[in-house]
Amino acid sequence: MGKIRYALIGCGRISPNHIAAAKSNADSLDIAALCDLVPENTQKMINDFSLKGVHTYTDYRELLRAERPQLVAVATDSGSHAAVALDCIAAGCSVIIEKPIALSLADADALIAAAAGRGVKLCACHQNRFNRSVQKIRQAAEGGRFGRLFHGAANIRWNRGPQYYTQAPWRGKWACDGGALMNQCIHNIDLLRWMMGDGVDEVMAYTDNLHHPYIEAEDLGLAIIRFSNGAYGIVEGTTNIYPKNLEETLYLFGERGTVKAGGKSVNLIEEWRFADGIDDPEQVKHEFGEDPPNVYGFGHSPLYADMIAAIRDDRAPYVDGAAGRRALELVLAIYLSAAEGRPVRLPLKDCSSAQFAGRFDEGLRK
Ligand SMILES: NC(=O)c1ccc[n+]([C@@H]2O[C@H](COP(=O)([O-])OP(=O)(O)OC[C@H]3O[C@@H](n4cnc5c(N)ncnc54)[C@H](O)[C@@H]3O)[C@@H](O)[C@H]2O)c1
Repeated sequence: MGKIRYALIGCGRISPNHIAAAKSNADSLDIAALCDLVPENTQKMINDFSLKGVHTYTDYRELLRAERPQLVAVATDSGSHAAVALDCIAAGCSVIIEKPIALSLADADALIAAAAGRGVKLCACHQNRFNRSVQKIRQAAEGGRFGRLFHGAANIRWNRGPQYYTQAPWRGKWACDGGALMNQCIHNIDLLRWMMGDGVDEVMAYTDNLHHPYIEAEDLGLAIIRFSNGAYGIVEGTTNIYPKNLEETLYLFGERGTVKAGGKSVNLIEEWRFADGIDDPEQVKHEFGEDPPNVYGFGHSPLYADMIAAIRDDRAPYVDGAAGRRALELVLAIYLSAAEGRPVRLPLKDCSSAQFAGRFDEGLRK
């Protein structure tokens, strides 16, 4: 197999991480084309990354017809992920979809079914799963080092202000995005669910919009999760932290192990305590901590490498469509519990971000 022909659709804020990831896998990937509705955005990427011989488009369907890429990354606004990715899959492309893979479970199911039907790979861009810290913790969990898990906690204490939402008006809208949980916190919600064994029985939650009258959705979400293995989880996610991002932390508490990953976006191991004593905590903290320049971390590049290997070896990617659906389902279950003021049992059949439209309108008008 020669190099995989790659294209990126959506050249906004997160797109440099995609092109950097594609370039770091240049021995197996050929960047064929970029697409954005705004030509200046594709041009900026060409300039910033000194890309040569890369074609640019404003219409992704034209790109699919003309370039016949084998792998496409979809980094458009969240509300358009499903429609764009379904077209890519129909054209025979494997896809990396930025998180969340879709805004409804029906769309997530359609994506998973379409990819399986067409025989292409579907990857959800939860790049933090590839953080060195997260990989080390995952290895401990898979190795049973925690013993019985009692509870875990995901805290996302970040700040987003008016400028962030003015830059891209889709952000914070129910039909195109959701709020802090769907946009900023879904990475850590994904990690918590994954580490606790994926199975969730029930969720109870509050969500609110306390400080962002210019967006429709929540800026604070608080949830308690009962996992199928008998353990519990706490999610605390917000974009209200004064005056800037404070931390994103993941705690896991088990019978024989306690771990805290922290830093900007769970890039550091801050506590590492295991009864088995098989590694030195100080060395683990030193060896598996990273300090990325921003909250997006270094995960896109290994996620791309894994997707390339998945295509070549005809196996599922490490973060597949089902994983993307599980993260989405948990966020939607939190939304539903908060909106209806009751515990919500999983699995959810269908639910979508758009069904919560108007939820905070009254409070915001006060
Ligand atoms: N993995 C992460 O850590 C991470 C970080 C930030 C954003 N994201 C996700 O990435 C996606 C994009 O976020 P962003 O902040 O870069 O948004 P953005 O608004 O800055 O960029 C989106 C770009 O997509 C373009 N676009 C929209 N529809 C298009 C279409 N049909 N065809 C071609 N181009 C189109 C827009 O013109 C815009 O330039 C969102 O889903 C977001 O949740 C992920």
